[in-house]
Amino acid sequence: MVGAGAAGTMAAIFAAAADADVRLYERTPDGGRKILISGGGRCNVLPVRIEESRFVTDSSPASLRKMVRSWPLPDQIAFFEREVGIPLAEETASGKLFPVSNRARDVRDGLFGLARRRGVEILTGALVTNVLPDDRGWRIERTGSPPAAVDAVVVATGGLSIPLSGSDGLGLSILAKLGHTIHPTYAALTPLVHRSPAGGESPFGHLAGVSLSVRTAARGGGRAARSSGGLLFTHGGYSGPAILDVSHVAVRSLAGGPPARVEVCWTERSAADWDAALRTEGHRTVAGVLRSELPDRLAAALAATARVDPSRTLAQLQRAERLRLVESLVRGELPWTGHGGYAKAEVTGGGVDLAEVNPRTMESRRHPGLFICGEALDAFGPIGGYNFLWAWATGRAAGVGAAAEIPQGS
Ligand code: FDA
Repeated sequence: MVGAGAAGTMAAIFAAAADADVRLYERTPDGGRKILISGGGRCNVLPVRIEESRFVTDSSPASLRKMVRSWPLPDQIAFFEREVGIPLAEETASGKLFPVSNRARDVRDGLFGLARRRGVEILTGALVTNVLPDDRGWRIERTGSPPAAVDAVVVATGGLSIPLSGSDGLGLSILAKLGHTIHPTYAALTPLVHRSPAGGESPFGHLAGVSLSVRTAARGGGRAARSSGGLLFTHGGYSGPAILDVSHVAVRSLAGGPPARVEVCWTERSAADWDAALRTEGHRTVAGVLRSELPDRLAAALAATARVDPSRTLAQLQRAERLRLVESLVRGELPWTGHGGYAKAEVTGGGVDLAEVNPRTMESRRHPGLFICGEALDAFGPIGGYNFLWAWATGRAAGVGAAAEIPQGS
């Protein structure tokens, strides 16, 4: 196995359970670094339920579905609770499952512990520079050591996000050299950035630290995505699940053509509700009405983007002003000029074409004995445990598939 992240460790556990002699090569001194930093240090191990349509791929959606379904969610939950020994608890507001201990380290250490108990040898500080087919099976080349001859190899090297966690795209170049089609990679689940034009002022520039629950939609370059949940104003941009989930549409639009439009519906209210609320004749001010639903500073910023003086009373509000204000509240454009890139991306979009891998075993259709799993593949899901679900499911299938490849008696 190459890469002791989420997918590679799971692959190792299942290959060893099927009696394979397993060695797990990991370039960092420890491994599992993304698990450690996941979910704000709490590790959102899985979602409570999944909507398959929320996964994103440029490859075959049918292959994706087969891979996601290969290890049903209830079985994954049971595995963590019974075999790894990590009870999970639902965070009801978000539909996410976290370890009861709320400690990501327990997940990483629990998986490594189980792998070792099943006989996996974990080699850290072991940078794999190439994997090559040879007469008998596969040759694993790494720095500072002679090549190792193995019957089968699982590549679980991740994508390009958070290079300090060990994934910098080297695995993808090894797979490209082996003839695999790599869909162009892009940063996904990454914050958006807004730099005001020189001398100009960002309408939301002074809101750093403000957070609220919203609905978002991004459209551009022939792609679209929607989300709902938290939005956080940061110094110089926006983050939170509602932004991260649609960020790939923005990121990809920069590859050519006009930048994607990102819209926010700032409250639960519909356009008709807001229109009715702002139509009432009366002495309440626009600011007063907006503040009943929105943080003060955001209410003022939204009034400004609609060119409405928030101190006006509703009786003074003209029809055109009301319509502009409603538009800002339910379909307000979020100005953005860039994104956090791989340095901030929770996942990498693009990667190995799914149709080039057998969805049951994760074996390469180009090279028998080569298995690919996790984020190196062309798929990712939204915030909420979907990406670990993908890593666990494809990792398990690859481990079982690789063990089945090993000749009896070897
Ligand atoms: P991953 O990148 O985890 O592992 C690849 C491993 O391979 C690394 O250990 C790397 O060092 C090693 N490697 C790479 N090249 C190598 C080489 N040439 N030789 C040897 N070793 C090599 N998801 C989720 O579902 N819930 C969550 O709460 C979060 N939270 C979260 C927070 C943050 C900050 C990030 C960055 C990401 C998340 N994610 C998440 C996403 C999740 O962490 C991610 O989808 C999985 O870790 C991907 O697992 P992989 O094993 O495929 O790659």
